[in-house]
Amino acid sequence: MNPAQPAPGARLCDLADIADPGAKGFMFRLEELLFAGFVVRRGDAVRGYIDRCPHAGMPLALMGDRFLTREGDLILCSSHGALFRIDDGLCVAGPCAGRPLWPWPVEVVGGEVRAA
Ligand code: FES
Repeated sequence: MNPAQPAPGARLCDLADIADPGAKGFMFRLEELLFAGFVVRRGDAVRGYIDRCPHAGMPLALMGDRFLTREGDLILCSSHGALFRIDDGLCVAGPCAGRPLWPWPVEVVGGEVRAA
């Protein structure tokens, strides 16, 4: 595990801070190490993934928190257009079709999104 990854139980944000549907990126630093992940919200459910595309290793959102398609139904990599399912991170179209994003366990506890 990346030592910069927040420990289980660490508060990330309030659920209300993420649009529905929507996504929010997070970055944590521990000395020289960086951890980048993002959380996708649909209703009261959240899914977390490491912000690294399995195609070429790029961060998925090149601008702000734009991790989703305009319809909000798939995760989009802005670099070369790969599309991923929200529920399991599997790439369903694009140059890395069939390969999944790396999961980042997160949960909602008392209205807060936390690392799990
Ligand atoms: S780096 Fe994501 S599609 Fe190429």
